Amino acid sequence: MKLIQVNHYEEMSKKAADIITHYIKNHPNAVLGFATGSTPSGLYENLIEDHRKNGTSYKAVRSFNLDEYVGLDGTHPQSYRYFMDEHLFNHIDILKENTYVLNGKAENLDMECKRYERMIQEAGGINIQILGIGRNGHIAFNEPGTPFSSRTHIVELAESTRKANARFFQSIDEVPTHSITMGIASIMESQKILLLASGPSKAEPIRRLFTEPISESFPASILKQHPNVVIIADKEALKDT
Ligand code: GLP
Repeated sequence: MKLIQVNHYEEMSKKAADIITHYIKNHPNAVLGFATGSTPSGLYENLIEDHRKNGTSYKAVRSFNLDEYVGLDGTHPQSYRYFMDEHLFNHIDILKENTYVLNGKAENLDMECKRYERMIQEAGGINIQILGIGRNGHIAFNEPGTPFSSRTHIVELAESTRKANARFFQSIDEVPTHSITMGIASIMESQKILLLASGPSKAEPIRRLFTEPISESFPASILKQHPNVVIIADKEALKDT
């Protein structure tokens, strides 16, 4: 894992955006893996700004998102589809039909998982996957204990994750109990992984990532086995490392 240390959130977001735009310029038909949450929002702002100023085009780019809540459709303001439309897709020239987000309202969720895996394969795999990290080390919605061999699947969210994400909802009761997420094995197949971490709430998972052995009880630890991981972390996230 390669670590890029930065001073603050803005610098992290800018560095990550530079890596993505540089890649797209050389590979206009890139397949990108996007994440949601407060961590990547600044990256998306930078991508929008770069698109406006420098004209980086996403016309041939395809994207896959990591996860989605079960039971929310794309018009729900807390769905990840809505988040991506609002924070990125509506502001760049990516074709909507080339942006794939899991359907949390699919009638048959198992089939939805299989369909998603197939689409990623058909796209030739993900070139760069953006990742955040949960306070308990989860990546996407793969909670501690998830097998490293997991593919896209349905999960029951940990209480701590529902609490952490309750800030986006009116109350914790509104936070869905389940989500649908790319699995750890699916994520690990990405050519390159860009893990972003900012702020004091990420100090503990980042410390654990660098110091603890690889174990399913700490999902992010598997990243140590990936040949091309870049971690961009700010001072606060690195304060205990
Ligand atoms: C959620 C998402 C993850 C994300 C994590 C951290 O649970 N499913 O993909 O990495 O939260 O979110 P944040 O960046 O808001 O701290």
